[in-house]
Amino acid sequence: MTNVTDLDTEARRILKLNDRGGYTIPTAGLYPYQWNWDSAFAALGFAQFDVDRAWSELETLFSGQWENGMVPHIIFHQEDEGYFPGPDVWQGVGPVASSGISQPPVAATMVRKVYDRDPEQGRARVAALYDKMLAWHGWFMDWRLDRGAACITHPWEAGRDNAPDWDNAMAALDPGDVGPYTRRDITHVDSSMRPTKYDYDRYLFLVQRGARLNWDEAAMLKDTPFRVADPTMTFTLLRAHRDLAALGAVLGHDTSQIEAWIAELEDGAKTLWNPDTQCFDSRDTRTGTWSNAISNASFLCWYAGLDVPEMRDRLAEVLEAVQYGVPSLDARDLRFDGMRYWRGPVWGIMNMMIGTGLTEMGHLEGEALRQSTADLLSEHGFAEYFDPRTGEPAGGKSFTWTAAIWLGWASPNAEAA
Ligand code: DGY
Repeated sequence: MTNVTDLDTEARRILKLNDRGGYTIPTAGLYPYQWNWDSAFAALGFAQFDVDRAWSELETLFSGQWENGMVPHIIFHQEDEGYFPGPDVWQGVGPVASSGISQPPVAATMVRKVYDRDPEQGRARVAALYDKMLAWHGWFMDWRLDRGAACITHPWEAGRDNAPDWDNAMAALDPGDVGPYTRRDITHVDSSMRPTKYDYDRYLFLVQRGARLNWDEAAMLKDTPFRVADPTMTFTLLRAHRDLAALGAVLGHDTSQIEAWIAELEDGAKTLWNPDTQCFDSRDTRTGTWSNAISNASFLCWYAGLDVPEMRDRLAEVLEAVQYGVPSLDARDLRFDGMRYWRGPVWGIMNMMIGTGLTEMGHLEGEALRQSTADLLSEHGFAEYFDPRTGEPAGGKSFTWTAAIWLGWASPNAEAA
């Protein structure tokens, strides 16, 4: 095991390595642009040693915000041939070239953490971002709710691209002929760690539909072929609303609108309770079917401020089946694939959110998860994700968000913000 000081140094080196000036790419080659939630986590890492840089990360993210409030999941600041699908395929309609969908809204939560590192410097920076965050949260409430739970309109919107949560909804899609295309991801990373061609045909079909409809939300909602109510979206949005309300209170704003949103989502989260698995689950809004997946997103309930006793039992069972939790899919599930992206591997950012939530609720599992994540990263480095059975690193290397959560949470030197 490498010593903690060396790990801190290495994590800072990775953030600087991936810094493109005002924004940070997740890793060179595989992801050469600014990704939405990656960037928010990067800010948490920067905040440990350069608070000003943390703010600029978040400010650059909101420079891509659309007129309707949406903050895109990828912002294409500088064209790069090494990524597909790029800006020509997406045809985003915002102020900067971008994708046309969003991603789990963790920014307000990270803004609050950065603010807490230095409230004096942070006040003006938060004040400038506040209305933008409010507009983005409002966009989710207007366009992404089903029975009070937050939905995704594309697997990439959840950030958990090939999770089994969408298997049924994906199977119901007929992508027809999406035309010829060349994937670039599998030139950077072994294809056994990535989504399949079956997945990519469907991902592209949905992108082409959005671009054809000019990313008009009302038009896209009509006869939507894909809409899944998702614990990632619901729990991160609920948490983000709470943090935004706290920031609003600091700034002296009326937060009653946000409080109403919180109540609506708290109610909506109940519609994600799968009575068969006794666990939070994804629900296909078009058919009402459950995915029956016990995923790491299921365990974001505490991060959202929801304490449900059964979930601690589920967590204990899931952790029992692997060496390093929390796996993106329960290892006892037949669909589990330990090295394939969101179908089994363990992810540092998810652990950080789950562990933080548990600790805030006073559950000792939170500190145990922080410790086991610290062991995983000390022993296996700052990869994108890891096999939960062995810790084997997978996906991209020198990964921004893994380094960031080391600095901001897992490292013994991390100062709780
Ligand atoms: C990818 O290209 O794999 C990304 O996850 C899409 O957001």
